[in-house]
Amino acid sequence: MSVVESLLQFSSTGTLLGALLLLLVLYLLSSGSESQKEGKEPPGPKPLPLLGNLLTLDLMRPFDTFFELSKTYGNIFQVFLGPKKTVVLVGYKTVREALVNHVEEFGDRDIAPSFRIMNDENNWKEMRCFALCNLRDLGMGKRGSEEKIIEEIQYLKGEFDKFEGKPFDTTRPVNYAVSNIISSIVYGSIFEYTDPRFTEMVNSANENVYFAGSTSMMVCMLYMLTLVYSRDRIIVKNIMQSRQHMAKLINGLLETLNPHDSRGFVESFLIRKQSDEARKTFFHQDNLMMSVTDLFIAGTDSTGTTLRWGLTFMAKYPHIQDRVQEEIDRVIGGRQPVVEDRKKLPYTDAVIHETQRLANIVPLNLPHITNCDVTFNGYFIKKGTTVVPLLTSVLKDPSEWEKPNSFYPEHFLDEKGQFVKRDAFMPFSAGQ
Ligand code: HEM
Repeated sequence: MSVVESLLQFSSTGTLLGALLLLLVLYLLSSGSESQKEGKEPPGPKPLPLLGNLLTLDLMRPFDTFFELSKTYGNIFQVFLGPKKTVVLVGYKTVREALVNHVEEFGDRDIAPSFRIMNDENNWKEMRCFALCNLRDLGMGKRGSEEKIIEEIQYLKGEFDKFEGKPFDTTRPVNYAVSNIISSIVYGSIFEYTDPRFTEMVNSANENVYFAGSTSMMVCMLYMLTLVYSRDRIIVKNIMQSRQHMAKLINGLLETLNPHDSRGFVESFLIRKQSDEARKTFFHQDNLMMSVTDLFIAGTDSTGTTLRWGLTFMAKYPHIQDRVQEEIDRVIGGRQPVVEDRKKLPYTDAVIHETQRLANIVPLNLPHITNCDVTFNGYFIKKGTTVVPLLTSVLKDPSEWEKPNSFYPEHFLDEKGQFVKRDAFMPFSAGQ
């Protein structure tokens, strides 16, 4: 029986009483650990027993509450999310200082218990290193992926054309297109949008991102109630279904594997698995499946959502859309755009950057964790404290942006209309 299956079985036997006992133990543990012997802790609102500061938060938009709290407590403050002490870093300068200049202390990821079960933290660094090197070799962000994107865009356009100009929900076709580009890099091949294996994998990954990011899931995770929570079970069911499809795809690639020619991430992994005896502790099937899942989950929803924000902004600001269209028509004409053209499209480039800034799709960032005791800007933060480097406060930092809450492409243009980079443009976070 796999870990996931035993998890499913265990979750059906969880009782409310057990959960309440757990809560009590957690509370006793957390209330006993509030010593300030080591130094001055960051300020913050007074927590309630068990609930911490949850009642202060707008649970649908906690990042807005954090931004507001910073006006009272400053750019480094602490809140208790239930029993969990969390330090929030606010504003471009503070976030950059922590993630770039103090990367050793703040660079680690705080992995939620529910995901820790599926992902062994010990080999995270090895897998991350392998993924980064290979994705680069496979052309991610370079010419290699450009060709794949150009090919895919024809299919996406075909899907849009089917609606003959009538309104429709762009979510699925956009996600299929983005997933297919990731698929071409990961598996070395693409799928038809009608292939049930593909649509099931994309849609269930999407559902998982939605559930994992929901407020109710967040609250349950805080109290370690994920094992008695129905959405957690849907997430696990989705993962198991996707793993079956994935295993078949990987087996197919294994049968035709050429050790001298890798067409994608999976084949590179399988070649390494076969050739590198000493590294078998890391290069096994479970790690391969987990890495592939990570890439699809982290890449599809983020890119798809950003693209849909782009469509939304263009619909909302038709005069900006007209300027983009005019620039594209003038510089490119009727042919297919390529990355090289970007330098000659400063207004379009500015609009894309402004889309990412205001779309602000990861407002809380992913939670980080201190990997040692640290004194940061005069405050003592204990090893193992969750840290939220608040990206929304960087992307809308009033001291960095002229019009932080407006769609204003001029943020990325100089007086001559040339594109300018901005340091506080951090939609992907910063540091290692
Ligand atoms: C518009 C698109 C995207 C945005 C805005 C975005 C944003 C982010 C952010 C904010 C983080 C957290 C960084 C931190 O912890 O400091 C992250 C992590 C990550 N992203 Fe993206 N991302 C995007 C696209 C992608 C794509 C296309 C992929 C891969 C196919 C991807 C894979 C990952 C992975 C694997 C991580 C975790 C890295 C780690 O644990 O070290 N992302 N992303």
